[in-house]
Amino acid sequence: MMVEKQGFKHFMLKEIYEQPGVVRATLEAYFNTDWHPENSSNSPINIGLPSELYADIEQIQIVACGTSWHAALVGKYLLEQLAQIPTQVQYASEFRYAPSPLTPNTLTIGVTQSGETADTLAALAMEQERRQGREPKYQARLLGITNRPESSLGHMVPHIINTLAGIEIGVAATKTFIAQLMAFYALALDLAYSRQTLPYESLEDILKGLRQIPKEIEATLESQEKLTEQLAHEFAETTDFIFLGRGINFPIALEGALKLKEISYIHAEGYPAGEMKHGPIALLDAKVPVVAIAMPGSVYEKVISNAQEAKARDSRLIGVTPVKDGEAGEIFNDLIPVSFVDELLSPILTVIPLQLLAYHIAARRGLDVDQPRNLAKSVTVE
Ligand code: AGP
Repeated sequence: MMVEKQGFKHFMLKEIYEQPGVVRATLEAYFNTDWHPENSSNSPINIGLPSELYADIEQIQIVACGTSWHAALVGKYLLEQLAQIPTQVQYASEFRYAPSPLTPNTLTIGVTQSGETADTLAALAMEQERRQGREPKYQARLLGITNRPESSLGHMVPHIINTLAGIEIGVAATKTFIAQLMAFYALALDLAYSRQTLPYESLEDILKGLRQIPKEIEATLESQEKLTEQLAHEFAETTDFIFLGRGINFPIALEGALKLKEISYIHAEGYPAGEMKHGPIALLDAKVPVVAIAMPGSVYEKVISNAQEAKARDSRLIGVTPVKDGEAGEIFNDLIPVSFVDELLSPILTVIPLQLLAYHIAARRGLDVDQPRNLAKSVTVE
């Protein structure tokens, strides 16, 4: 199938703009957002996974690389907080040579948009092999999350959550990341429902919140396109960036930094904001801008206070936050506003301005946004 740019300058920008549609398609396919316990005795999630896969799960381990690994970190947060299942996230390239000790009743998830990443496939194959012939509770239970169900991953594992992003051309993953996040919301809510770990009211609230997300992404895109383009002009010559986030937005700080590195070749680091003072703060001065994700919720005040520490070292502070006044209004030099949404759903929104910022900086620098140097869309060698 021939994929066109449809008037966008680059595939990456087109794919950023396709994200509301990806969320809508996923909601339609996998979520019943009108679910109410009184009018349904079934799970509000329909990802078609058999109950044997869920039975007696004591632990989840996820293997992935790159952006898929970042999605897995958000997944860990959701699986632990909503479904109360201890979850480990491993780089596939590490796990295959130093696997965790065998644990019983363990679900192993491989996340790979292409379904062809050599390390992820090898980690899953290794897991399958080392569990073969063991007593039932130690046998492998493998699940894949992929945008290519017809891929090698699709042939290797018995169960798949198909992410509904459509083909992604830009080497830097954008819409497939959003689709992976949606897969993790679906999986975590389905598990939470089947294990009864989440009150029905909270479940309903999350579903209602998800229903609003496509519109919120559209609003974010509309309000931020110009703003991030302007910021990009100012940062086109910057050589180092720091991204801070905490809790469920820590992986988004990592993803923001990865996007910038990949396409603009600017050195960028993502940190959990509370770790700054344990070393990286020594990097800060007026030449190193800090992007802080500050969503109201369990860690908002903490992020603001970590941002204060950066400001005291003369860093220019860019806040990704819905809060325009009070402390946030005072400390941030630049505000990239996002809508007020539940902290639990916020990664789907906070990543959007970071994708746009990376895109506009790279475009401003005149770089090959869709085909960055040294990178391939899928890494099929070790
Ligand atoms: C994402 O922007 C990168 N191009 C890269 O990190 C990618 O996510 C990684 O190579 C994993 O790819 P996969 O999801 O196809 O396995």
